[in-house]
Order: sequence, then structure tokens, then C-alpha cells
Amino acid sequence: MNLLIGANFKMNKTGAELREYFGTFLSEYSCPSSVDLVIAPTIIGLVLASELAKDSCVHIGAQNMSSEISGAFTGETSPLSLREISCEYVILGHSERRTIFGETDELVNKKVKTALVHSIRPILCIGENLNEKEAGLTKDILRVQLEKWLSEIDNTTGIDIAYEPVWAIGTGKSATPEYVEEVHIFIREILGQRESRIIYGGSVTEVTAHELISKREVNGFLIGSAVLDPRRLIKIVEEATR
Ligand code: PGA
Repeated sequence: MNLLIGANFKMNKTGAELREYFGTFLSEYSCPSSVDLVIAPTIIGLVLASELAKDSCVHIGAQNMSSEISGAFTGETSPLSLREISCEYVILGHSERRTIFGETDELVNKKVKTALVHSIRPILCIGENLNEKEAGLTKDILRVQLEKWLSEIDNTTGIDIAYEPVWAIGTGKSATPEYVEEVHIFIREILGQRESRIIYGGSVTEVTAHELISKREVNGFLIGSAVLDPRRLIKIVEEATR
């Protein structure tokens, strides 16, 4: 199974900045065959990113997607439009979508199903918040999230699971490698026969990548802050594959 390394740009980078980023990245990245590298720019940056990544080893991902295909859904993005521009992945269930934009369990589940129907690979983000962690509820929370968000989905081969503890996102405080390993083993147990990559997200950097990836059941990363610099993304891939 290839490692999955996802770069979530969040609401960063204009078109001009994307051009500069891809210019540097594509001229210096060595494209290791053991890595599926996904760049997820803003929705408006997707068309340009898709053009810039054409004929390269870089895959393009969206940060969000509608659960519907077409119709009166102001401000939403259809999976059909994503397919049209060769967008192969979509990040779903991200904690920022859930906490800031109020996405519900039902909506996340519906989006996952819609993505699968349209052959867009969901990167499904699960994770506990700080209160839940401190109350010792991490595993219960993850179990419920997986049950609800994968409800009525038997085959998860086309889905990647990102374990992103909310308290580690954008805080500079990554979970420890031991903690990540314990949780990933737990997630693997819940998934049972269902095949999915399990990747970790939450303040991953070029300094922490190697140790984290050496832990059991860590199949890659989803990264925000550190990958806004193309050379740091290259370094993270190097550290993950050495
Ligand atoms: P971070 O973001 O690397 O800045 O913690 C990760 C994410 O939100 O996916």
C-alpha cells in the first residue's frame, strides 16, 4: 500500500501563489513511487492547480464537496465539477467544517457516499477534541464517528481515514508517536476486514514525520501549516520515505 501524504492548504494561496508553489515544488520533487501525494488548494484554486499538476505525479484534492449533484445549493461544489477537472480526492469531515460550519454526522455520511458514487476518494477526518481526550473518551468518540460516518458503507477500500485529534490541529502540538500508534491500531481494529489507509494529521512537520511514520498502522499524513512552503512538503516526504 502506498503512503498517502495530503497537503491541506485551507484558505491560503492566491492563484499567483499557487503558480509559484507548483513551480518550485514540481522542479524539486522526486516523485517517490511509494507515495501518493495530494495537494488540496481552495475551491477556486482547484482548476489552476489541476492544470499545473497535469502530467506530474501530484494528485489534486478538494477540501470540501456537496453531498448533492446539482440544483439550488448556493455556494456549493458538485462532485461532477470536481471530476471534470480530474480532482481525485476530497477531504471530508474535517473538524473545521464540523465546528465552524456545523456539518452534521448525517451530512458527512451523505458526502462520503456521494464521493464514492462519483469515484472521488474521500479522506475522512476523525478525531476527538481536548475535552473528550481529557475525559478519556477518545476511543468512544472515534468508534461513534466511524460508525455514523461510514454508516451503510460496507467497502472502505476507496476511503482513507485521517486521524486528526482536534487539539493537535494548527497548534504546533502534535500527538506523541506512541499515542498516534495506539490510536491507529485501535482504528485498524474497528475497520476490521475493511481496507483503508489510516493517516495522521495534527501539526506534522519535517522534524516529526520520520518518527511518526515508523509507528504501526501509520500510513501517511494530512498536513496544513507546514506544507504551505513547498520545500517543507518535499522534506516531509523525504523524511517519511527514508
Ligand atoms: P496542521 O493541519 O498540520 O496545521 O495541524 C492539519 C489539518 O488540519 O489537516
